[in-house]
Amino acid sequence: MNILIIGATSAIAKATARIYAERRQDLFLIARSEDRLKQLSADLTVRGAESVGYSVLDLNKFNEQEKAIDQAIGFLGTIDVVLICHGSLPNQQEAEISFRLAQKEINTNGLSVISLLTLLAEKLILQGNGTIAVITSVAGDRGRQTNFVYGAAKSMVSTYLQGLRGKLFPFNVAVVDIRPGLVDSPMTAHLKKGALWSSPDRVAGKIVRSIEKRKPTVYAPGYWRAIMLIVRLVPEFIFKRLKF
Ligand SMILES: NC(=O)c1ccc[n+]([C@@H]2O[C@H](COP(=O)([O-])OP(=O)(O)OC[C@H]3O[C@@H](n4cnc5c(N)ncnc54)[C@H](OP(=O)(O)O)[C@@H]3O)[C@@H](O)[C@H]2O)c1
Repeated sequence: MNILIIGATSAIAKATARIYAERRQDLFLIARSEDRLKQLSADLTVRGAESVGYSVLDLNKFNEQEKAIDQAIGFLGTIDVVLICHGSLPNQQEAEISFRLAQKEINTNGLSVISLLTLLAEKLILQGNGTIAVITSVAGDRGRQTNFVYGAAKSMVSTYLQGLRGKLFPFNVAVVDIRPGLVDSPMTAHLKKGALWSSPDRVAGKIVRSIEKRKPTVYAPGYWRAIMLIVRLVPEFIFKRLKF
């Protein structure tokens, strides 16, 4: 299988890429740090990847995304699976008083992903097969007062994916929305960990299985589906008083 991983140096992406490498797949990686891409490529090759290529890109440079995707297609031939992983967790209090910061975060977590999806959808329609998987977040399921800039961007992507899934269905292209809960990664290094936290490896296993099964919406780990069902059911007059 030919796998394109975008935001490939993220902890969750790396854990997923390692599973694919051990299965001897061909991989193409896109991320913004050349040093880390080199290291990761070497690691994946040692683990068994059939071939590994990469392209360096700050994904907020929307106009340069197509060139990187074309490089991926040039390397892989066709794309069987594309996994979009990049993201950033803003300081909510700063982002809600600075539109400049909010816009930057919405670009990273929302618009850069929609730009990629616009390009990738056309390429996969032409192929007539493939799977597009995107890491969104449980934070997009309901706007919480401690996290609503990030949550709004993730929710925008989830809604976009719902519609895109219908558009791509006749072309045999699956769209998988992966919504992790709390994952111990560099993004959350500053947060106190507890019982609900999981590892990038655990989430990666779920990502690979869900892509194989072409599942539409996936909570990772699965217990987050029940948690978010309850969170969505809390009446607004109570929810607006909750500081979590
Ligand atoms: N950790 C959680 O609790 C959690 C929960 C739900 C969803 N998620 C989502 O899971 C995904 C992976 O996050 P993670 O937990 O694995 O955290 P992570 O290791 O911090 O990964 C985030 C990645 O995004 C990359 N990135 C950010 N802005 C970028 C840009 N403009 N161009 C290119 N790359 C950019 C970062 O690149 P650099 O390494 O170069 O900085 C980093 O590799 C993200 O979409 C995140 O929102 C995480």
